Amino acid sequence: MTDFMQDIMRVQDLDAITASPVFVRVDFNVPLTDDLKVADDTRIRNALPTIKLLQERGAKLILASHLGRPKGKHNPKLSMVPVGQRLAELLDQEVFVTDDCIGDGVRGVLLERTEGDVVLLENLRFHAGERQDDETFARALASLAPVYVNDAFGAAHRAHASVHAITRFVGTRAAGLLMQKEVHMLERLAEHPEQPFIMVLGGAKVSDKIGVINNMLGKVRAIVIGGAMANTFLAAQSRDMQASKLEQDKIDVARDILKRAALRNVDILLPEDVVVARQVADDAETEVVGVDKIPTDAMALDIGPGSVEAFGKVLADAKTIFWNGPMGLFEKKPFEDGTRRIGSLIAKSSAVTIVGGGDTVSAVTQFMLSPFFTHVSTGGGASLEFLEGKELPGLEALRQRRQR
Ligand code: 3PG
Repeated sequence: MTDFMQDIMRVQDLDAITASPVFVRVDFNVPLTDDLKVADDTRIRNALPTIKLLQERGAKLILASHLGRPKGKHNPKLSMVPVGQRLAELLDQEVFVTDDCIGDGVRGVLLERTEGDVVLLENLRFHAGERQDDETFARALASLAPVYVNDAFGAAHRAHASVHAITRFVGTRAAGLLMQKEVHMLERLAEHPEQPFIMVLGGAKVSDKIGVINNMLGKVRAIVIGGAMANTFLAAQSRDMQASKLEQDKIDVARDILKRAALRNVDILLPEDVVVARQVADDAETEVVGVDKIPTDAMALDIGPGSVEAFGKVLADAKTIFWNGPMGLFEKKPFEDGTRRIGSLIAKSSAVTIVGGGDTVSAVTQFMLSPFFTHVSTGGGASLEFLEGKELPGLEALRQRRQR
C-alpha cells in the first residue's frame, strides 16, 4: 500500500517558528463576479486551519497564490485584492496585499509586520516564471522566508515555481493541513475503498476523464455518467444525439471503455432519458424525452427524471461515492434538476462521499449541499490526476528524500 505522505513533514511538526516569516502556498484561485468580488470562498475557508495554526505558533504569514491565467502579465482583473478582502473578513483581521509577489517592496512590507500578521502576495502568475517553474523566480520567492508550507492541493498537479522549484531553495518544507486532509481522503479511494464503490462522472468532456476511468476500472463497481460526456457514450452506443454537444473524435474511446468495463464486470450507467431544448437560455422551453427520441433540432442539456431514478437505485447501495462533473448545464435554471437531484442523493447517502472539480463544487455550493458530503475536494484537476495514479509534482517536491 502506498503511503502518499511518506517522507513529508507536516506543518504541525515544524520546530519553533515564533516571529519567523513562513511562506504558505495556498490555492486561492477562486471564481470572481463581474464586479470583482469573490463568488465562492470555499478554497479560502479551507486554508484557514493552516493559517490559524501558524498564527498560534507566532508566525508572520506570507500567503501566495495564482488567480486565473494572466499569461505572465499584470492584469488588474486578476488581482488578489478581492481575495485579500474576503480573507480579512474571514480572519477578522487586516490582510495586507502587496503590489507584487517578489522584490524589495515585498521585503519592506514584511519588515513592518509582526507575529500573527498576514500578508497576501499579488498574483504569482503575473510573472511568466511561475508557470515556467523558473529557478530565478523560485529563488526570489524562497528568499522571502526560511520556512515553506504547501497547502495548495488544488495546484499540486502543476510543476510551477511556487509549488515545485521553490522547494529546492527553502530551509524547511512541510505540507499544510488541507494538503494532508485532501491526500488522506483521496488515498482512501485509491487504495482501500469500501465496496460498492461508485464513481459518478459528468461535465463536458470524455477526454478529461479517460485517465481516471482507466485507472479506476479495477476498483469501482459501477460508473454513472451524465453531462455532455454522456452524449459521447450514448453516440458510441449508436444513439442519434441530434444537435447535442459531443466529442466526435472520442466516440471510439467511449466504445472501448464500454467494452473494457463489460469485461471487468463494471456497470456503466448512462442516461435513459434527457431534458432537451432548442436553445440554451434561462427561459428555454424544455421537454423530457427518451435517449432514442431526441428531436432532430434539439440538444440534450440535462439528465431526465427516469435517469435520476435509475442512478439513484445504484447509488442507494454504495459504500463509497466519488463525484466529479455536473449532470447537465446546471448554471441555467431549466437544466439544473439532474445535478441538484443527484447531488442530493449523494449528500443523503451514508456512504463515504467525496466531491471534486470546480464546476461540481460550484454546483454543491449553489444547492447548499456542501456540509453533507464526507469531503469536498478543493482540487479539480489535482484530484483527478491523483486518482489517475499520476505523481503530483507539488507533493513529490515536499518529500525529504528524493532525487533533486
Ligand atoms: C484549479 O483551479 O484547478 C487550480 O487552481 C489550478 O489552476 P490552473 O488549471 O489554471 O492551473
